[in-house]
Amino acid sequence: MSEAKIDEKKILLSGIQPSGNLHIGHLTGAIKNWVDLQDNYNCFFTIVDLHAITVKQEPTQLRKWTLDLAAMFIACGISPEKCTLFIQSHVTEHAQLAWILNCFTGMGECSRMTQFKDKSQQHSENINVGLFAYPVLMAADILLYQADLVPVGEDQKQHLELTRNLAQRFNFLYSDTFKVPEPYIPPVGARIMSLQEPTKKMSKSDENQKATIFLTDSDKEIINKIKRAVTDSGSEIKFSPEKPGISNLMTLLALATGKSFSQIEDEFKGVGYGEFKSEVATSVAKWINPIRTKFIEIRANDKHLKEILLNGADSARRQASKTLRKVFKKIGFVQL
Ligand code: TRP
Repeated sequence: MSEAKIDEKKILLSGIQPSGNLHIGHLTGAIKNWVDLQDNYNCFFTIVDLHAITVKQEPTQLRKWTLDLAAMFIACGISPEKCTLFIQSHVTEHAQLAWILNCFTGMGECSRMTQFKDKSQQHSENINVGLFAYPVLMAADILLYQADLVPVGEDQKQHLELTRNLAQRFNFLYSDTFKVPEPYIPPVGARIMSLQEPTKKMSKSDENQKATIFLTDSDKEIINKIKRAVTDSGSEIKFSPEKPGISNLMTLLALATGKSFSQIEDEFKGVGYGEFKSEVATSVAKWINPIRTKFIEIRANDKHLKEILLNGADSARRQASKTLRKVFKKIGFVQL
């Protein structure tokens, strides 16, 4: 693709924490959206390891999760040729700009953040300054790339609002420097619920391992988990709020096969739960199998994966350092 073509496209940036194994809900939520966006935007996707250490991390685990996440993105269809995929700590400009932005952020602004309040409760033994300044680092991630758009979930909207405020504040004090980013609200995808408590969202940190389908689960594990999924009373296969268990399985089947809910209802008229679950189980296993196979293949070639990440970091750094140089100059740092 020519440079000019890339430049015409709007810049989109998103980040994800390497804080656990990816499950099927990530695929149908964030990742699928990102895959769809990569053709129409100049996309930067970053694995935010600096953010991850605001809570306690085990080093071996953190390293593994970071590489797993990169490999899984590629396995799911994120193309390193189309977008810039990189690890946050590889581009030191993030920490540098975050420090500067810290000096323009009020204590009150950070202490008002609801995620900070929630996380300080969850991790009351480790309320560190990094956790407090987390949203400022996120602002740096976004502003370094002059991003137009940031896909964010509901829980990150307040952080994006702070990012916009910081950009406007800096621009006002020092003349135009940062693009003020807009939130990108992705089209609502299907929500995948826990297999064991279908009124709760599927989560990577569910204590009950049978509740979550991980993208690295084998066919057999997937099949077993779905066969043991909680269903509802009655015997009809019908999409309805009164049938959260069956509705969740129907959602999975729809995603795996492309069939509509009414098609599924017709097809399974008079069929029992057991047979329906078997059908869902094999369809989902078939859907995830090629992703897992690709993931294993990418993960087995460590050298190639690291090359992709090195290239990603190089190209991210080119953009980030441009912005940081401008900032240094404006605030009065000596340039040699
Ligand atoms: N805070 C985000 C989350 O937990 C992750 C993140 C870090 C991010 N930097 C970002 C998201 C920049 C979007 C843009 O989900």
